[in-house]
Amino acid sequence: MASTVSPWWWPAAVLCAATAGVGIHDLSQRRHSILRNYPVLGHVRFMLESIRPELQQYFIERNYDGRPFDRDVRSLVCQRAKGGAAELPFGTERNVYAEGYEYFETSIRPLPVGAKEPRVRVGGPDCTKPYDMSLLNVSAMSFGSLSANAVLALNRGAALGGFAHDTGEGGLSEYHLRHGGDLVWEIGTGYFGCRTENGDFDRARFAEKAAHDHVKCVSLKLSQGAKPGIGGVLPGEKVTAEIARVRGVPEGRTVVSPPFHQTFGTPRELIRFIAEMRELAGGKPVGFKLCVGSRREFLAVCKAMIDEGVTPDFIIVDGAEGGTGAAPLEFADHLGSPLTEGLITVHNALLGTGLRDRIRIGASGKVATGADIVKRLAQGADFTNAARAMMFAVGCIQAQSCHTNACPVGVATQDPRRARALNVDDKSARVHRFHSATVRSAQQIIASLGVSEPAELRPHMLRRRVDPVTVRSYAELYDWLVPGQLLIEPPESWTADWKAADPDRFDA
Ligand SMILES: Cc1cc2nc3c(=O)[nH]c(=O)nc-3n(C[C@H](O)[C@H](O)[C@H](O)COP(=O)(O)O)c2cc1C
Repeated sequence: MASTVSPWWWPAAVLCAATAGVGIHDLSQRRHSILRNYPVLGHVRFMLESIRPELQQYFIERNYDGRPFDRDVRSLVCQRAKGGAAELPFGTERNVYAEGYEYFETSIRPLPVGAKEPRVRVGGPDCTKPYDMSLLNVSAMSFGSLSANAVLALNRGAALGGFAHDTGEGGLSEYHLRHGGDLVWEIGTGYFGCRTENGDFDRARFAEKAAHDHVKCVSLKLSQGAKPGIGGVLPGEKVTAEIARVRGVPEGRTVVSPPFHQTFGTPRELIRFIAEMRELAGGKPVGFKLCVGSRREFLAVCKAMIDEGVTPDFIIVDGAEGGTGAAPLEFADHLGSPLTEGLITVHNALLGTGLRDRIRIGASGKVATGADIVKRLAQGADFTNAARAMMFAVGCIQAQSCHTNACPVGVATQDPRRARALNVDDKSARVHRFHSATVRSAQQIIASLGVSEPAELRPHMLRRRVDPVTVRSYAELYDWLVPGQLLIEPPESWTADWKAADPDRFDA
């Protein structure tokens, strides 16, 4: 038009050519998933991000920020993943006088930061193949809830950084195995990947897969913080040929994970099942994951451990604040113990029953920074897992459309068109960088408390403002049992639950 009709068309022609150029560039670059899926338009997001502080001020003032993860935390994770400086000018923007504000007690004499990343040995007396776990690992997220590329990126990141990647309950796929990252193979109530035709646990299949070199630990999932007490449903249209093969279910048919396991019905049977799984897994560490509900029930499990002389090698405590691909709002908002209460209950119960030395505790629930790791270690954990922070590292923008199959950045979708935007090489490097920088930050915090080992962290080092003029340490805020106390003389606040706990009955 510009050359034939009128020169007035030239500006429009230049604009069109420039837009086409930007579009071609966006489609061919491999760094930003959002630009590959939304060429040209994706730049609007980056532009808005560049004026984020002002926008944030606008939204916060209107109390509009109700998303699960604090924007600052998400942007810190992304900065670290991209290898950028994670330092801020000017000082904290938190209200340090607000109720609930928490901080660590630092030492006048900080120690030098250790050069080596600390590791936690997982493996009790019956384990013959202990695993040295990082302080931070990838929490359970199945292939199915995540795309193949997201699983590949997480696993490659884990391989680069030498930390563990939990498969989630959707089975052990070739995407978990391709890059050789250390795996925690999770088995849920659907026994995906090791199930019989009618949905029972298949011992032979389990033993065969657990023997794989990359499988370092096995985790039996009892429940999850975002939806304790319910299983899951994978609708038939999402059961593609590939997912069907990995899970060991018929293609195209809706799969239901029941709310509870078929293989055991009492705490004692659970503990016997753990012992059996460990034997079938050739002595690899076996543990379980739960969101704590009734303290009495957990004590019943401890009594079963004592009676049977069998302990899991680890227990992962998931907090009610944990994430999911999909859960009913009521379950996400109102069921299960938050991580602080769940973790302290499990730590105390194991201390009180004299079992703490044999079992490592993992903690998950909004762990995303070095401070989160140290806080959980001070409250009784030995290591932590992160799900959503790892999703941020592979490009999640918290669009919260995991359940619709329309994730705009290809992380939580089975739509191949969307998933192809996620570049595995680039995103695995991000996962690796995020992990290293976050563990390094935890090490720096630990050193600044004057502590040389993560295992020396104690509840008194963490303090919390309980009202405008009162601050209490966690040592004061909660009861802390001494080893064996429940067996000798339970404190009054534990007596009723301890007496009622029955190793032969789950009874809240
Ligand atoms: C997309 C997604 C999928 C998940 N899938 C599983 C799963 O298969 N098994 C499981 O035990 N937990 C699953 N979880 C829960 C996480 O493993 C984790 O326990 C919880 O999100 C808390 O961690 P976070 O706060 O770091 O996300 C999933 C979470 C997300 C976000």
